[in-house]
Amino acid sequence: MSEPIANVDMANAWGGEEGDQWTQFADEYDTSLRSIWARFLETDPIAPADRVLDIGCGSGQSTRDAARLARDGSALGVDLSESMLAEARRRASTEGLTNVEFLRADAQVHAFDTATFDLAISRFGSMFFSDRPAAFANIASALRPGGGVALLVWQATAGNEWIMVVRESMAAGRDLPMPPPGAPGPAALADPDDVEALLTGVGFEAVELTSFEEPMWFGADADAAYAFVGGIGIVKGLSEGLDEVARADAHEKLKAALRSHETPEGVRFGSAVWLITARKS
Ligand SMILES: C[S@@+](CC[C@H](N)C(=O)[O-])C[C@H]1O[C@@H](n2cnc3c(N)ncnc32)[C@H](O)[C@@H]1O
Repeated sequence: MSEPIANVDMANAWGGEEGDQWTQFADEYDTSLRSIWARFLETDPIAPADRVLDIGCGSGQSTRDAARLARDGSALGVDLSESMLAEARRRASTEGLTNVEFLRADAQVHAFDTATFDLAISRFGSMFFSDRPAAFANIASALRPGGGVALLVWQATAGNEWIMVVRESMAAGRDLPMPPPGAPGPAALADPDDVEALLTGVGFEAVELTSFEEPMWFGADADAAYAFVGGIGIVKGLSEGLDEVARADAHEKLKAALRSHETPEGVRFGSAVWLITARKS
């Protein structure tokens, strides 16, 4: 039977150009999230015997770290992008990991073995579901009773300097609308009350949101940062519909913004992240 995919648009995006860009810049993505990921690991979410599911694992740094921490357990990373998964497998093999697997699957509908996992984690891979209750019910069914989730997601756009700067640069005089609440995208799980209702509605309890405010690092200098950020999905998405002149102008604005955020530690922007934790009842 072929693997079911409900998020067809996302599968096309992440399975195509977007996923290829993430694969090419896997090291840059990992480095940009370094401080945030360190905060996640500091919370000590993974026990040695855990069976961990990583939702939207991308090139798999989070899955591979989970596998190292769950040394008597295992880690399974699922993602929509074959190219990122291939990179994840290549890195896991180079690192000699034997308790990690990667699978192309839509976490919203994949038939996970029921009550198999102790913990579902995600590093910015759980905000793209077309049907959030269905997706989180599916993830809940993969967890054993008492199992947990630990998800990193972006807080509201206005509190994320890096997203605001990208939006302002790419607006090119347009009044860009904010996506509707809950819509698939960076801010889909930004509202604490909504997240609590969503998760308790599908069988989780003890829902907690912890705020991390850490710098995003985009490169050693503005040129390096532009080589990376100039091609990320949000930049491409926001520049759709601009003519050539307006697009070039928007990219110049982005370059200038990157230059103005150069520091001795590289190009850095503020970010605001939720760590969402909850337990399956
Ligand atoms: C922002 S990237 C994060 C990748 C990775 N977790 C990291 O931190 O480098 C989001 C990832 O979620 C994946 N994704 C989005 N929707 C998904 C779904 N329904 N099922 C599985 N993966 C999904 C995408 O393919 C993409 O790799």
